[in-house]
Amino acid sequence: MPNQGHLISFEGGEGAGKTVQIKRLRDRLYACGMDVVVLREPGGTTISEQIREVVLSAKNIGIAYTTEVLLFQAARAQLYREIILPSLQVGKVVLMDRTRDSSVVYQGKVRGFGEELIEQLNDISTENTYPDITFLLDVPPEIGIKRRQGTDKMDRLDMESLDFHQKVRDAYLEVAKRDDRDRWTIVDAAQDIDTIEEKIWEEIQARGVCA
Ligand code: TYD
Repeated sequence: MPNQGHLISFEGGEGAGKTVQIKRLRDRLYACGMDVVVLREPGGTTISEQIREVVLSAKNIGIAYTTEVLLFQAARAQLYREIILPSLQVGKVVLMDRTRDSSVVYQGKVRGFGEELIEQLNDISTENTYPDITFLLDVPPEIGIKRRQGTDKMDRLDMESLDFHQKVRDAYLEVAKRDDRDRWTIVDAAQDIDTIEEKIWEEIQARGVCA
């Protein structure tokens, strides 16, 4: 049975403002009468949240990159089977704070596992599911890190060097500009929150999610 719903993902580096934009989009879609589910990766189910704790804990600095790759995929596999695929089948709109492209960028490109291998794992975890629409909230890492500092949201990956965050940004821009499946919109996330919200909403309407 073909999917009836819409899978919309938000991607970007630390402090890009994904969370606030997802909340605003959720409210606008509700107002439009849509049935909306909001999820984050890694996480979103009881099992996936337990995996999140292991993979992101600042205590686990000894985690091997290979372990990291597989744990992100394990959390994803559970989330797609338990919530995302059934939600899409009944016509819901699923808003995601990160999904498969985070693995392509962080593990595939920045850690060096390669895009091809990561996409193969992504296909297994998601049962070959791609977002219909993906927003890249693009912000220079200096700004993103400053937004994040002083909050209690600093995790193991936030504590990486500026060079790491710059590589993440460059990798996202490369993937988004290539736009293999005509699904990416790059948003300048250094702009103010209301302006970003409008830009996202325009794209949602242009794509016919809430006409
Ligand atoms: P989170 O606190 O959700 O970060 P943010 O608010 O920036 O989205 O932590 C998620 C972290 O995990 C983030 O640093 C990116 C990383 N990550 C990967 O490296 N690979 C993945 O597949 C996913 C889903 C996340």
